[in-house]
Amino acid sequence: MKRINIAIDGHSSCGKGTLARQLAAALGYKFIDSGAMYRAVTLFVLRANINPLDANAVAEILPQIHVDFVVNAETGRSDVLLNGENVEKEIRTLAVAASVSQVAKISEVRRFLVALQQKMGADKGVVMDGRDIGTVVFPDAELKIFMTATPEVRARRRFEELAAGGADTSYEDVLANLKQRDLIDSSRADSPLTMTGDYKLLDNSNISRDEQYAIAMGWAQHALQ
Ligand code: DC
Repeated sequence: MKRINIAIDGHSSCGKGTLARQLAAALGYKFIDSGAMYRAVTLFVLRANINPLDANAVAEILPQIHVDFVVNAETGRSDVLLNGENVEKEIRTLAVAASVSQVAKISEVRRFLVALQQKMGADKGVVMDGRDIGTVVFPDAELKIFMTATPEVRARRRFEELAAGGADTSYEDVLANLKQRDLIDSSRADSPLTMTGDYKLLDNSNISRDEQYAIAMGWAQHALQ
């Protein structure tokens, strides 16, 4: 049977991971959260007390970093491993969120993680979400989806998720962080978030998760024919 790669790119906090996970489960494919890999590198940088703005210092410590995924037996989801340590929870903190876009701007970091991601998708059968998956990582992906929603809708959803997890943060802080990340992700020199003509646009500001899934699954089935 034909196997394809599906690239899902788009703005922060618009549910790319949720959709990618659903598609991967339905198709029996591997889901890979590329943002988690940038977050894991960022966590290493912060723990090592390296300034995320110091590109040379960050590039220098890359050989010390090993990023991988492991299936969590409790949740059935894949968690990110940083040098063998499960850091899935720690990479979701606001501290990491505040620095990750800076780290993701560094070309050496991108080259390092893109090479890993390309290896993971070499045999097809991967759904990967991120910012540059359809443009840089898998330019030949058979299906490319660009997801977005208004900043307010995304910040509200993200805030509710964080609050439910017990995080002490405000909607305003979440919105400000998200807008800043959008700006850095879209304006950086190396592999900025861009929607090229071969993407299908999915704006989920006003549609349900089920509707979104139905639309995307339709595209996937078409790409599989
Ligand atoms: O998807 P996320 O919010 O977990 O991503 C965290 C950051 O990593 C985001 O600010 C942009 C960066 N990123 C990237 O530059 N390229 C990717 N393929 C994935 C994430």
